[in-house]
Amino acid sequence: MELHMKKIYFTGIKPTGSLHIGNYLGAIRPSVENSHRSDVESIYFIADYHAINALHDPALMRQYTYEVAAGWLALGLNPELVTFYRQRDIPELFELQWILTCCTAKGLLNRAHAYKAQRDLNLEKGHDPDHGINAGLYAYPVLMAADILLCQSHIVPVGKDQFQHIEMARDIANTFNTRYNCSLFRLPEPMIQDGLVLPGLDGRKMSKSYGNTIPLFGTSKELKTLINRFVTDSSQPEDPKDPELAPIFHFYRAFASPEQTESLAYRLRQGGLGWGHVKAELFSLVDETLATPRVRYAELMANPRHLDDILAKGAQKLRPRAQAFLAQVRTAIGM
Ligand code: TRP
Repeated sequence: MELHMKKIYFTGIKPTGSLHIGNYLGAIRPSVENSHRSDVESIYFIADYHAINALHDPALMRQYTYEVAAGWLALGLNPELVTFYRQRDIPELFELQWILTCCTAKGLLNRAHAYKAQRDLNLEKGHDPDHGINAGLYAYPVLMAADILLCQSHIVPVGKDQFQHIEMARDIANTFNTRYNCSLFRLPEPMIQDGLVLPGLDGRKMSKSYGNTIPLFGTSKELKTLINRFVTDSSQPEDPKDPELAPIFHFYRAFASPEQTESLAYRLRQGGLGWGHVKAELFSLVDETLATPRVRYAELMANPRHLDDILAKGAQKLRPRAQAFLAQVRTAIGM
C-alpha cells in the first residue's frame, strides 16, 4: 500500500504582505507545477495563524489572506486537484499543536534562527534578551510542525530560510514516536527550492525586508516603471557584457525559455545591446507572462465570498482526515 501511495507535497504561505515576483518564482510557480504531477498529492495552505504574530491590523490581515488565495489561484492552482485551505479552518491543528508542544524541548526552540536573531539584536542593543519578543514567535516552529505533521506530509518544498523549521518538525515527530513507542508521525523531508535566487531592483535577493520587490499584480505601467529602475552597471550599449554578472540577466532567465536566455546572453556578450533594450525585453516577457493571471486575479479579488467558498471546501476535504489522524494521536497518548 505504502509503495503505491502518492507522495504528499505540503507547503504554506504566510499572508504578511502583498505578493511580489519573488514569491511567484520561489514558491507559487513551483507549487503549481508540482500540483500537476500525477505521482504527487498536493496540500497547500494559507498560514494565517502564523501571520498574526507579525501582522496586527485586522483589515490588512483579511486583505493579505485574500491576496494570497487569489494569487495562487490566478497563477494556475486548481482547487479540484489539490487540497487548498486556510489554517484557521482546521481546529484540529491547534489541538495537535499543544500535544506537540509537550514533545518539544525548550532548548530546541531556543535554537530557532528567527528567535535567536531577535535575541541577539536585543543583546547588541543592551536590552533584556527577551525584550519585545512574544511567545508566538517562540512557539512558531511548533505550530509549523503541527501543520506539516497533521497532513502526514512526505515532502515540504520551502526556501532555505525554512530548512531549520522542517528539521525541528522531524525532531518533534521523533520525540513523540519514541516517547509513545509508535510510528504515527511521518518524518517530513525538506525540498529546498532556492536554486533560483531572484534578484530584486537593487540586485540583492528580492525580499520584502530589503524593500526591493516588484509587485506581482501591479499594473503593466507600474511593472514597466519598476523594471526601468532595475540596477545595471555603467557600461555603454556598445560594450560587450558578461551576462552572468548582471542581476537583470538572472531576472530575465527566471522567466525566459532556454532559447530566449541563450539569445540574450549571446547578444550581451557581442556588445551593441544597451541595458535599456534589455529592460524593454524583460518588461515584455514578464508582462506577457502575467497578463492573463492579472485579469483572473482582479476577478477573484472582486469576489471574496467565492474565495471563502473555495477555501472552505478545501478545509472540508482535509478535516475528516485530520480528525481521523488526531483520533489516533489521542489514542497513542492515552486519551
Ligand atoms: N514559515 C513559513 C514561511 O514563513 C510558512 C509556513 C507555515 C509553512 N507553516 C508551514 C511552510 C508549513 C511550509 C510548511 O514561509
